[in-house]
Amino acid sequence: MTISERGKFVTLEGIDGAGKSTHVKTVAAMLGACGKKVLLTREPGGTPLAESLREILLHQAMHLETEALLMFAARREHLDRLILPALAVGTWVVSDRFTDASFAYQGGGRGLPSPRLEELEHWVQGDFQPDLTLLFDLPVATARSRMGRGAELDRFEREGGPFFERVRQSYLLRAAASPARIKVIDASQSIDDINKKLEEVVTILCK
Ligand code: ADP
Ligand code: TYD
Repeated sequence: MTISERGKFVTLEGIDGAGKSTHVKTVAAMLGACGKKVLLTREPGGTPLAESLREILLHQAMHLETEALLMFAARREHLDRLILPALAVGTWVVSDRFTDASFAYQGGGRGLPSPRLEELEHWVQGDFQPDLTLLFDLPVATARSRMGRGAELDRFEREGGPFFERVRQSYLLRAAASPARIKVIDASQSIDDINKKLEEVVTILCK
């Protein structure tokens, strides 16, 4: 019996309306085309319990620290039940959001101090980090104009422009601090141009 090589963990990040849900499928398809077995997932969510926590997080008002704790509780479950077992048998995992979102939204957006988030990060995932993070970056006004008009907005989507500006800047600071892991994609481009950029990055990772 051959021992499978560990799979890689790829995450997509960005403010609401940046195009993650659109491109997460493309990234998974590109990895599939280069022969990888791929599991597509999202945060908060990815397991039945984490999806229940997602419903609460997206729709019920709560203390900022409760919000951070529930995000990481959902993540603990997601890691234990889905992400780590899949990686262990050689499956590549592509997640629409992961821990960078907690630093950007609960940290940058809501103002929870970074040391609190770092404690939770260390507790829940130790040194585990994505192998690659694609940060979809675009002006807040562009993202807002793309956000589901008519559809009912959740608790985060209802936040105003200044909140999303803080989230965006917080993501960009994290990208600057970890340039090898976090690749910034100019998400204001056309879907075709973004796909070309994704193809370049994914091809390198696939080798
Ligand atoms: P997110 O998951 O980051 O919130 P979505 O993928 O749902 O964003 O995209 C929000 C909306 O913008 C969707 O209607 C999608 O079709 C559209 N969209 C995504 N990327 C682009 C793009 N590069 N140019 C124009 N529209 C886009
Ligand atoms: P998501 O479904 O990715 O939103 P969208 O597709 O609209 O971009 O994520 C739901 C919301 O959860 C999103 O507004 C960001 C928020 N979130 C956090 O605040 N912290 C986190 O750690 C995660 C994973 C998500």
